[in-house]
Amino acid sequence: MILYPRNTMNTPNNPLKMQVEKNLVDIVTIAGTRPEIIKLADLVQLLDGQGNHALIYTGQHYSDNMKSIFFDELKIKPDYDLRCDTSDIATLKENMLKFLREIRPPHILVYGDTNSSLAGALAAKEVGSTLVHIEAGLRCFDLSVPEERARIKIDSTSDYLFPPTELARTFLSYEEIEKNVTVTGNLVVDVCRRLAKVADEYGRHYDLPDKYLLLTMHRQENVDERDRLEMLRKHLSGIDHKIIFPIHPRTKNNLAHYGITLPPNVIAIEPAGYLEFLYLLKNCRLVMTDSGGVQEEAIVLRRPCVTLRHVSERWETLLLKANVLFPLHRRDPLSNVIEMMLDAKIDRNPYGENVAGRMLQLIKQITQ
Ligand code: UD1
Ligand code: UDP
Repeated sequence: MILYPRNTMNTPNNPLKMQVEKNLVDIVTIAGTRPEIIKLADLVQLLDGQGNHALIYTGQHYSDNMKSIFFDELKIKPDYDLRCDTSDIATLKENMLKFLREIRPPHILVYGDTNSSLAGALAAKEVGSTLVHIEAGLRCFDLSVPEERARIKIDSTSDYLFPPTELARTFLSYEEIEKNVTVTGNLVVDVCRRLAKVADEYGRHYDLPDKYLLLTMHRQENVDERDRLEMLRKHLSGIDHKIIFPIHPRTKNNLAHYGITLPPNVIAIEPAGYLEFLYLLKNCRLVMTDSGGVQEEAIVLRRPCVTLRHVSERWETLLLKANVLFPLHRRDPLSNVIEMMLDAKIDRNPYGENVAGRMLQLIKQITQ
């Protein structure tokens, strides 16, 4: 796919430049990482259909298998790629500001809690745009988690907030954020259900073990220090199942850095594209993860989940017993918890459906 290079705003015939010159960009959506591309895809398609929208990609995630494959599979295209190649908030914000000062969009949408989203929120306020926060109100109540600090800051800065559930709305009310808050459901439901249907084609590419568990892991609390990775290796080696592990680059780099090798029951693969990942998720017996998005997709696709953290923001999945917490520093065997969860009955989705369409209507009301 062709992304517009950084300097094309000033070249003739750039579609976005022409749109800006005609004063047609009312709404800018900011995305910068794998989960944002996935979760925003349906909404971006709908907004693009309105003709007054631009998607700006920060380039925080830059490797082809963390970025381009998702734009291709989800069939959206950024109007502009800042190509920051970093998660440094100051750099992300500075690059965004250069750009936003040219466009001066009346409205800016950000999703979730990444550094790109935080930088987008700060930049939006600096250029005087109205800020809409999608996936507002998630809380794990541990301020040592960088995403928790980002969420709180973005929520406190936003003019309109779209929490996915009533519980997230309640968390906002505890922080005295009650104005312009609308519960919307979670955008992940529709995109993951739709693409899970086409993901079956991946069966052709795979010679999967009959029964396997799936694993993803990338949070800094789990993968940045040697002792945590050693704990992970020990827990995995005690599991009597094959484990497929698409490895996030952060984790891959740190395993290599500390010279830690994975046990023989673990099949390590490159980060998977979305179709491939959904195929693996649909067919696994259980998923172990520290990912927010994977906890949500697991309950939507009715796969049991063990979250390898001491907290989660996805309380609804824990309350419905589709998900349990297992922090890596626990001394009892992870395998016991897995055996307990293998037969979990998962029959409810707490995240709503047809979310993008309803969100579009809300955004139209805000931007009229
Ligand atoms: C970021 C988000 C996290 C989100 C995750 C989704 C922040 C602070 N963290 O974490 O909330 O859950 O994305 O995956 O915003 N790297 C590559 N190629 C890439 C991207 C990253 O090699 O395309 C490597 C680089 O060495 C980089 C490291 O991974 O330094 C970490 O990337 P970074 O974007 O800082 O954080 P994530 O762990 O991806
Ligand atoms: N995902 C993927 N390939 C992988 C791992 C995850 O497509 O190898 C998808 C997953 O289905 C989910 C999203 O990436 O939609 C989650 O991203 P990640 O775990 O990086 O971030 P988080 O949700 O924790 O912010």
